[in-house]
Amino acid sequence: MSHTAINTNFVTLTRNLVFEQQQVKEASGDFTLLLSSIQTACKFISSKVKKAGIAKLYGHHGTENSSGDQVKKLDILSNEVFVNCLRSSGKVAIMASEEEDKPIEVEIKNQGKYVVSFDPLDGSSNIDANVSIGSIFAIWRRQTEEETGATIEDLLQDGRSLVAAGYCLYGSSTHLVLCTGHQVNGYTLDPSLGEFLLTHPDIKIPKRGNIYSINEGNSTYWDESVKEYIQAKKFPTDGTSPYSLRYIGSMVADVHRTLLYGGIFLYPTDKRSPKGKLRVLYECFPMAYIVEKAGGKAITGECNVLDIKPKSIHERCGIICGSVEDVTEIENIYKTHK
Ligand code: AHG
Ligand code: MN
Ligand code: MN
Repeated sequence: MSHTAINTNFVTLTRNLVFEQQQVKEASGDFTLLLSSIQTACKFISSKVKKAGIAKLYGHHGTENSSGDQVKKLDILSNEVFVNCLRSSGKVAIMASEEEDKPIEVEIKNQGKYVVSFDPLDGSSNIDANVSIGSIFAIWRRQTEEETGATIEDLLQDGRSLVAAGYCLYGSSTHLVLCTGHQVNGYTLDPSLGEFLLTHPDIKIPKRGNIYSINEGNSTYWDESVKEYIQAKKFPTDGTSPYSLRYIGSMVADVHRTLLYGGIFLYPTDKRSPKGKLRVLYECFPMAYIVEKAGGKAITGECNVLDIKPKSIHERCGIICGSVEDVTEIENIYKTHK
């Protein structure tokens, strides 16, 4: 009999991954180890984000901190920890990072069977204002043979081929949201345990919301479909209430809110950015995957985001994602403007 209200049978991210692995007969444990390395990178970044203000003070009078190390910007530090954790896992064949122009190669003898793309620190313009930021990652199985060495083609797979994707949000608490093919689960970092605990099992996005999220400052560049849709959300003519606007400017935070509360997030193509702003491999694919697996929808305006077959690792696309009814509404407007 329990004497306290404290739960001693908590579910950690590692416990869930090991459990999932045990359900698959031929599982090698590689995927569990790969995700363990990502988990470690996210914990490291979370701890550095919380100390960023202090670390900056340490480096205030020059470029060195109290121990004589170079003070690195958080996005560079985050990139390094992702690369080091993934490379040393021995489970990755090749990687792509927002912070590196070229694919990040791994010595052939250390190459594993997975391919990972990541945005180590998303929303970095928000760091100095203490506003939520995040990390985003996407995982595929490599296509090339293990003996030959991975190539860029391993990274240029479509979004339908993803085997997992997720993000970590460094906000008032640290949340890791992950989908390994089935349900979307949300974990919260318990800093005293250093463990991600399952707090949001099987997240389902509401079918419709009442929040829209877009950089309204770009409205002069919007195409007619976006203008018409946003006008309808602000000045509804069908007797419904206007939508609220929320825009943080960190995709991770804006999509996370959309996932939990419903509504729509848009970073569409426009006259200034005809190919969109956000990157396919490490921003749009993983977020579209999570949103779809939670029962929502993610489109570019022309097709579903996950159907894109990227031609380069830093390719961009428009993205409109969120509640299925909200996204379908603008999708239908796009069709009338074709
Ligand atoms: P990053 O910090 O990785 O470069 O990404 C910033 C992105 C994304 O997080 C956000 O949705 C978008 O840029 C905000 O862009 P605007 O400032 O143009 O609204
Ligand atoms: Mn980003
Ligand atoms: Mn970034």
